[in-house]
Parts: sequence; C-alpha cells; structure tokens
Amino acid sequence: MATSLFDLTGKVALVTGAAQGMGRAMAIALAEAGADLLIVDRNEAGVRNTAAQIALLGGRVDVAVRDVSEPGEVRAIYAQLDNVFGRIDFAGNVAGESIMAPPEEIALEDVEQVWRNLVFGRFCSCQEAGRRMLKAGRGGSIVNIGSLASVTALGRGHVAYSMAMGAVAQMTRELSTEWAGHAIRVNAILPAQVLNPGLEQRIAANPALRTQFLSGIPAGRFGKPDDIQGLAVLLASDASSWITGALIPMDGGNLAMNGGGSVRHRKTAEEKAAQ
Ligand SMILES: NC(=O)c1ccc[n+]([C@@H]2O[C@H](COP(=O)([O-])OP(=O)(O)OC[C@H]3O[C@@H](n4cnc5c(N)ncnc54)[C@H](O)[C@@H]3O)[C@@H](O)[C@H]2O)c1
Repeated sequence: MATSLFDLTGKVALVTGAAQGMGRAMAIALAEAGADLLIVDRNEAGVRNTAAQIALLGGRVDVAVRDVSEPGEVRAIYAQLDNVFGRIDFAGNVAGESIMAPPEEIALEDVEQVWRNLVFGRFCSCQEAGRRMLKAGRGGSIVNIGSLASVTALGRGHVAYSMAMGAVAQMTRELSTEWAGHAIRVNAILPAQVLNPGLEQRIAANPALRTQFLSGIPAGRFGKPDDIQGLAVLLASDASSWITGALIPMDGGNLAMNGGGSVRHRKTAEEKAAQ
C-alpha cells in the first residue's frame, strides 16, 4: 500500500516497452501505487500479459500495440490516451533496443534505426506528453531510460547505442530546463547491466562476460527489472516534485567507481604481439 507521499491514485501514466523487463516492472509498480495505465509495446502477447497482471491488481489499464520508432505510431498512442483517459500525468519512455557492430563496420541504416528507436521515439513521446501537460496546466513527470552509455563509453560495438543514449541525456536536460517553470519534470534513469533475454544470450555465448560485467558493479550482482520500481514511483509521484533534469544511476555503484562497461573490446597491440 502506497503512503500518501507516493500515492498515484487519480493519475494517468503511459509506459512504453511494457511487454517485459524494466517497462513491465515500471508499469506494475505505478499500478500498485494507484495509477491508471496505458501500456505500449510492439510485442502484443507480452503487453497483453502485463495488462492482465495490472487488471488483477484492480487497476484501469489499456493497451497499445505500436512501434515507438515511428512518429505516426507515437501520435496514435497519444490519440488513444486522449480518447480513453483524457489526461496524462506521467510518461515512462522505456522501450528500446540496440544494434551492435564495430564503428568501422556498422551500416548507417542500423545507426539510423537505433537513433529512431532510442532518440526519435523518446523525443516524439516527450513532445506529445509535454504538449498535453502544458495545455492542462497541472504539471507532470516524464522519465526517459538512458544507460551507463549516456555518460561513458562502453566499447564492444556499442557505438550507435552510446551515441543515442548520450542524446537521451541531453534531451532530458533540455526538456527539463524548458518545462520546469510549468512543473513538468523530466528525468532520466541510467541503468547498468539489468538481466534481460538479450543480455542473458550474450553472457551464455561468452561466459567470461559475467565476471567482467560484475567487476564493474560494486554491489556484486546484476540488476533485476524490479530494481526500477521504487525509482519509477518516486519520480512519478509528488515526492520528487523538486527533482528535474537529473540523470539518476541505477547501477549497483558502477558509475561511482568509474566501472563503465568493464570490458575491454579489443586486444592491445602488445597483447596481440604476445600471442
Ligand atoms: N537491460 C539493461 O542492461 C539495460 C541497461 C541500460 C539501459 N537499458 C535500456 O532500458 C530499456 C529497457 O531495457 P530492458 O532490459 O527492459 O529491455 P527488454 O529487451 O527486456 O525490453 C524492451 C521492450 O521494449 C520493446 N520495444 C523495443 N523497441 C520497441 C519499439 N520500437 N516499439 C515498441 N516496443 C519496443 C520490446 O518489445 C520489449 O518488450 C531499453 O531502452 C534499454 O536500451 C537496458
């Protein structure tokens, strides 16, 4: 049961990427705190499954099966929100994925697709949410999911992802500066490695990654999607009414110790010579 400081009763929240992982965990946490939800994902079965879980909690929930890398689809999501709920208090822009390849090899089309998904999609959603929050005059809260890659290089083929996540950090700062005077807060959460199916596959293919990643996490464990729940409710609630423009690490201490990606991508010339 939420205390009144964190109570979201009567608020409407939109969360993208809600079929699994951190988006799903965020949506469920907001529903548990009392919010009504529009949840979005292009994975229909997954997002409907999350909706069923929210409905069991007694919350009001609607589903949009959409691709947030397409501006027309993002506008359709917000049109649905207008029709079903008629207001927005919180937008959580969580959906995203990367295409990894070395910088000298990556196709420009792939760089553009990562940008569309992580930057353009988040910006379109921020713009639609911000327009509605400004018009309604009640303020609001927007959270963009960034990454360690918003503030540090990772290597290992993350160039498109890092460029995009760096832009997410600056988008968050710019929007918070523009809208703070209207009580619209814009913050970003920067996770370190949170276990998801993609990360688990990469670790299964290269078990040494597990130790390398953990060497950059002083807390000694990977993140779990549920680790985002407290932060999501805090940022959606009035408890954080003076927090805006913040890039908040959710990383078991990674950034504090300058852990970064904790994996050296390429062998040095000396190591190659020693082989
Ligand atoms: N897991 C990590 O270690 C980690 C670390 C830092 C940042 N992030 C970022 O956090 C976000 C969530 O990560 P996660 O681990 O929960 O991921 P995940 O892969 O478990 O879930 C991502 C969800 O987003 C959906 N999605 C992706 N692109 C979409 C699109 N264009 N339109 C609609 N839905 C789309 C997928 O269907 C999926 O349900 C991502 O943006 C990711 O880049 C993840």
